[in-house]
Amino acid sequence: MALHEKISSILATEPLGSKVTVKGWVRTFRSNRFVAVNDGTTLQSIQAVVDYEREDEALLAKLSPGAAVSISGEVVESQGKGQRVEIMAESIEVHGTSDPERYPLQPKKHSLEFLREIAHLRFRTNTFGAIFRIRHTLSFAIHKFFHDRAFYYLHTPIITASDAEGAGEMFRVTTLPAGDPPRREDGTVDFTKDFFQQETNLTVSGQLEAELGALALSRVYTFGPTFRAENSNTSRHLAEFWMIEPEVAFANLKDNQDLAEEMLKYLIKEVLAAHPEDLQFLNDRLQQEESQKPAHQRSSMGLIEKLEFCVAEDFERLTYTEAIRILQNSKPNKKKKFQFVIEDWGADLQSEHERYLVEKHCKKPVILTDYPTQIKSFYMRLNDDQKTVGAMDVLFPGIGEIIGGSQREERLDVLERRMAEMNIPQEELSWFLDIRRFGTCPHAGFGLGFERMVQFVTGMSNIRDVIPFPRTPGNVSF
Ligand code: 4AD
Ligand code: MG
Repeated sequence: MALHEKISSILATEPLGSKVTVKGWVRTFRSNRFVAVNDGTTLQSIQAVVDYEREDEALLAKLSPGAAVSISGEVVESQGKGQRVEIMAESIEVHGTSDPERYPLQPKKHSLEFLREIAHLRFRTNTFGAIFRIRHTLSFAIHKFFHDRAFYYLHTPIITASDAEGAGEMFRVTTLPAGDPPRREDGTVDFTKDFFQQETNLTVSGQLEAELGALALSRVYTFGPTFRAENSNTSRHLAEFWMIEPEVAFANLKDNQDLAEEMLKYLIKEVLAAHPEDLQFLNDRLQQEESQKPAHQRSSMGLIEKLEFCVAEDFERLTYTEAIRILQNSKPNKKKKFQFVIEDWGADLQSEHERYLVEKHCKKPVILTDYPTQIKSFYMRLNDDQKTVGAMDVLFPGIGEIIGGSQREERLDVLERRMAEMNIPQEELSWFLDIRRFGTCPHAGFGLGFERMVQFVTGMSNIRDVIPFPRTPGNVSF
């Protein structure tokens, strides 16, 4: 299929003298003469110069922001500032007009909040164009990273009958009538009459299924949508997000940390190499956003500097116990500046603590390991001290937890005991226990929150701005 030229290639190759056709959407039309057309392939728009004496007035009237156009003409050196080449328009076709009175995107800076309300149109802004080009590169790079390291991409189910994280924050899937479901004698809903003849929900993680794959294919990863009905309206939580979950047979916690660090650095490097222009744009917008903040809240590094820093530095590796000591002795803890003051070993870490460790204490990405059993999931491997598990969380500046993972409990008896302690019914997970019965082996894996990664790389402070159609409590409009 022969496609028309992408604006990105015309601007990159500057084919002076050749005839081209560009197709895209009008950003601006100035002085009845200069049309800026953007097709989403690059931050830059191309300028087409219209001969208004020759063109039909009715046609010129249709060249308003948002209109879809094809413009053909010769590529020439630009006389004006701001671009090196432009197109002398010879023929113009308007495919779809855009009523200038009603088109919400004006050639000015709109707030991110406003753009969230018109999420179906925000792709057409410089900021969101840059974000979604980078999001694509990141997802492609994830597949490349794993493919090059002999991992198989495993598709795990979206509808499941188990709660992989044991946190109970699930969306139910049912075909029973909401108003009048069939009931048992005791009045409770009779799910045996439901589609799957039992209760089902949207998955919170593909890990448990990935473990089955890893114990046959050696290295697998999932990359799919994940659903959590956490009622947390924060800048880092979505009800529907994408997660990457590698799982590796014959791997321990150290291997797991090495893999996570290598992957994160690889992904950042790929984006740095592929998107200098988009990153520079996002860097500048962040700098402007930061300059509005009080001095002590400003980040000391620019976006690109921060990305390069994370690639260059070894991540700090600390145990939970070491981290608790650091936090107990920290100023904000002593002065009770934390919302949750750390009293004793065993406390769950909040994002304020994670960010203190990363941004104030270590001043670089941190991998925390060996958390208390009580605050982590049932499948994590019990350490010899009997009170911690082989968990790991990777903490990033500005984000907090970006990865959660662990070495898995591969010993059947220990796992059964842990499940009993945590009241997790064994019948529901018989298949998960079976791989501990037949050829069990040490194995480990982790989950990377894809949107948190996109947030980190683009410097966007709200997670709703890095997914095309965010789902959060009360929001599902687009
Ligand atoms: O730490 P979590 O809950 O770990 C798991 O689900 C494991 N089963 C992963 C594994 O070992 N295979 O989630 C993993 C990551 C978090 O570190 C975070 O980056 C992201 O998923 N995440 C969310 N991202 C956006 N919105 C939410 N509500 C998220 N919850 C978790
Ligand atoms: Mg976690």
